[in-house]
Amino acid sequence: MLKTLAMAVLALAPLAAQKFEGLAPTPPMGWNSWNTFQAKISESLIKEAADALASSGMQAAGYRYVVVDDGWEAPERDAQGNLVPDPARFPHGMKALGDYLHAKGFKFGIHNDAGTKTCGGLPGGRGHEFQDALAYASWGVDYLKYDWCNHGTANSQETYKTMRDAIRTAGRPIVFSLCEWGDTKPWTWAKDTGHLWRTTGDIMDCYDCQGAYSLGWKFILEIEADLAQYAGPDHWNDPDMLEVGNPGQTPAESRAHFTLWSMLAAPLMAGNDPRKMSEDTRQVLTNREVIALNQDPLGKQATRFMKHVGKQIWAKELANGEWAVCFFNDSDATVQLRIDWANLTFLKGTYRIRDIWQKKDLGRTTTALEAPLAPHDVVLVRLSPAGL
Ligand code: GLA
Repeated sequence: MLKTLAMAVLALAPLAAQKFEGLAPTPPMGWNSWNTFQAKISESLIKEAADALASSGMQAAGYRYVVVDDGWEAPERDAQGNLVPDPARFPHGMKALGDYLHAKGFKFGIHNDAGTKTCGGLPGGRGHEFQDALAYASWGVDYLKYDWCNHGTANSQETYKTMRDAIRTAGRPIVFSLCEWGDTKPWTWAKDTGHLWRTTGDIMDCYDCQGAYSLGWKFILEIEADLAQYAGPDHWNDPDMLEVGNPGQTPAESRAHFTLWSMLAAPLMAGNDPRKMSEDTRQVLTNREVIALNQDPLGKQATRFMKHVGKQIWAKELANGEWAVCFFNDSDATVQLRIDWANLTFLKGTYRIRDIWQKKDLGRTTTALEAPLAPHDVVLVRLSPAGL
C-alpha cells in the first residue's frame, strides 16, 4: 500500500531536470581556440585548425571536441533576441561550421557566458538561457563552455543550473563545461550541474608567472592538489586548457605540463596552433601511453604523495590494480632521483615498471630507480602488478 502511494506521488512530481548523464565518462579531449588566438577567430581558422588536428594524428589520438571560444558573436542579438554569429568572420553561420566539424568526425564546442556579456564584451546568456540552448541544439553543438564574466550579483549555483535545465529542455545532449574559475568552489556543488568545472583563474603560457586573474601552471597544480576527491567519471576538475607547445614553455615544461594534466584526470584541451605544430609538440600531445593514463576508466585524479623541493611524487590509481607515478622536479636545478619503491606505501607487492617518456620497460620494483631529473621535468612510470 505504502509502496503504491509512494509510486503515485513520484508519478505526480515534476520530472527534475538533470544534466545529460554519461557524456564524459573520461575527461573530454579536444582543442580550444582561446589560448593561442583569443578573440581573433573565424570560420576559416577553425576549419584549418580542425583539418590540422586530423592530419597531425591528434584526432586519432583522441582530440575530438573543437571548441570555438569567445569572439564568434556579433556585438548584438537580433530583434528577436537571438544570438548572431559575427557575419564577417563566420559568414556561413554556426550550423554550417558544426556540419563541417561533424563531417570530419569531430564534436562541435562553443563558448558563451552566464552573465550579461562575455569577458570579451559580446552578448552573454543571462535571461536568454532557454532561447540560446535551442539555438545551440539547432546548430548541432555538442559542448558548451559557459563563462562567468559580468554576472553581477547572480548566484553561481542557480545560474548554472538554469543553463543546465535549458540544455536538457532543448533536448540535445551537450557536455556542459562550467567556467566560473573556482570562485564559488564548484567542486562542492556542480557534480549534478555540469560535466567539468574550472578550478582556477586562466592559465598563462608560463611555468610560474602570475597575472591579476591568471597564473602559470605550477600554481594551478598547487590548487588541484587538494581537489582529487571531487573528480570522477562525468564530473571533472578542469585546471584549464593546455599551453603545451606554446612559446612560453620549454620542451621539458611542455612534457611536464602534459604529464601532470594527464595525471590530474584533467580535460585535455589543446591550446596551441595545430597548423604550425613542431614535431616535438606533436609527439607530446599524441603520446598514447600518457593519454591512456588520463583516459583510464577508473577516472581517478592523481594525488600528491610527496612534496619535497625538486622531488614531488604524484600517484594516480588505474583500473586493474595498476598505478601511474610521476616524479616532478619543480625546482630550477637538476636533481638526482633515487626511488626505493618500498617507500611508496600505496603499492602492494611487486610491479613491472614502464618508463613512459623513454618508452622503455625498466624491470621490477624490487630494484630502486635512479635517474637525473632536469628542472621542471618529469619521469613518468606505469606500474603493473608483476603477476598480471
Ligand atoms: C575567461 C575564460 C577563458 C576564456 C575567456 C574568453 O577568461 O576563463 O578561458 O574563455 O574568458 O573571454
